[in-house]
Amino acid sequence: MAVLEIKKYPDKVLMQKASLVEEFDGRLQKLIDDMIETMYAAPGVGLAANQVGIPKQVAVIDVSTEEQKLPLITLINPVLVHFEGETENEEGCLSFPGYYTIVQRHEKVVVRALDRNCNQIEIEGSGLLSRALQHEIDHLNGVLLIDRIGRLKRDFFKKRFQKERKRQQVNL
Ligand code: NI
Repeated sequence: MAVLEIKKYPDKVLMQKASLVEEFDGRLQKLIDDMIETMYAAPGVGLAANQVGIPKQVAVIDVSTEEQKLPLITLINPVLVHFEGETENEEGCLSFPGYYTIVQRHEKVVVRALDRNCNQIEIEGSGLLSRALQHEIDHLNGVLLIDRIGRLKRDFFKKRFQKERKRQQVNL
């Protein structure tokens, strides 16, 4: 297993729609293992394959807390099949280090996907799990945190982000 480099905004691979996984081969198993290790090392509660530069429909999620251990979820070709309610909460993303913003999401979702052994699974989530499922499915569609906020906030973010990048370039 290996910790992979996490691509940061505005890397183009993050805006790319990931393609369906068709082969459940050794390469896929290695990618999943590396993504799990990368997510835990970050640390994050979810990671999509485009975030490690591979635009394939693979995501991993673990929303465990110290108080509550929950199963690690691997999603291949996930599809949102049901959603209800609305909720707003603060959200971050490993591809936008240090940036958090309020994002509106469905309160409860049901996602159908394949697991790493090509078995069909259905996952029902509310709370943080629901948020993570929607965030990772967004990633696989090339949709980012800043696409989920209003235009004014997005423009503000882009300006601030460019300023920070300029500063970093000077400091090199
Ligand atoms: Ni993210």
